[in-house]
Amino acid sequence: MTSFIVSADFPIARPRRNRRDEFSRRLVRENVLTVNDLIYPVFVREGQGVREPVPSMPGVVRYSPDTLLAAAEECVALGIPVLALFPVIDPGLKTPDGIEATNPDGLIPRTVAALKKRFPELGILTDVALDPYTSHGQDGLIDADGYVLNEPTVDILTRQALTQAAAGVDIVAPSDMMDGRIGAVRQALEAHKHIHTRIMAYSAKYASAFYGPFRDAVGSAVNLGKSNKATYQMDPANRNEALREVALDIREGADMVMVKPGMPYLDILRDVKNAFGMPTYSYQVSGEYAMIKAAAANGWLDHDKVMMESLIAFKRAGGDGILTYFAVAAAKLLKEQS
Ligand code: PBG
Repeated sequence: MTSFIVSADFPIARPRRNRRDEFSRRLVRENVLTVNDLIYPVFVREGQGVREPVPSMPGVVRYSPDTLLAAAEECVALGIPVLALFPVIDPGLKTPDGIEATNPDGLIPRTVAALKKRFPELGILTDVALDPYTSHGQDGLIDADGYVLNEPTVDILTRQALTQAAAGVDIVAPSDMMDGRIGAVRQALEAHKHIHTRIMAYSAKYASAFYGPFRDAVGSAVNLGKSNKATYQMDPANRNEALREVALDIREGADMVMVKPGMPYLDILRDVKNAFGMPTYSYQVSGEYAMIKAAAANGWLDHDKVMMESLIAFKRAGGDGILTYFAVAAAKLLKEQS
């Protein structure tokens, strides 16, 4: 049969040879996803025996501390290394200054202590930001014009991080995007002898509409109303600025850095990994999860295949791990396949 191929390299070069059989596809595979790459974000609220579904995040629930222990047990059994805690705070405890975030007997410190007591080997990460605690839904203190004040916010955030460290948390993760907060938190941790507490900095965190379902889940959407976070979170149009933010956080004492959201920002993840070689994480956020869930529920996408493809993409882009609401489902699938 006559061939119309005009490549000078063909047929000496036939890239499809390596793809022909499963054994050689496995042999040439460049990246792998393992359970070690997964961080599971969970929502916790007061109460007992609660597993309250989040409508915009099918399969995700708000746990009370007791049911969270059961969920944590499953994570330990699956080998998931870290749980990331996000609080749903009673509306009655929300104030303009979000001071409940510093309460040593608050929901998060109590939950951290209970988890670390029962599962000492399970890593626990807590968010450092005020939005679940403020009556206006912003991540910090605001002035009369609604502008988030930097230094007064950093003071409260630092106290929040110290409270979490005292409760025994392993990793604090400032997600607020105030200037100078990593350095402030690091100095305070050292001064209080919490020398092992790691900081995972939400270094390049964008002002993204993909956080919508998360704000439903923690109940900050109603407080935030029509206002946005553009005066502190980054402009989605910016790339170089992400590298400057990461450089600052590393100098201020971050142990790990993060890019957020995930899939729409894989270019930033690759840039950051190449530039700094730091342990670098990505957050596949609530809106990304909701999109995949919605399409799968309609039969438009294959749930498991798209989930795994989305997760390997983070590895390929240079990520050392992924915060993902798919963590448990993916870990189960990985276990079945092994
Ligand atoms: C709080 C915080 C947010 C997320 C993580 N920490 C929301 C926000 O900044 O408005 C979003 C996570 C997600 O969408 O899954 N500062």
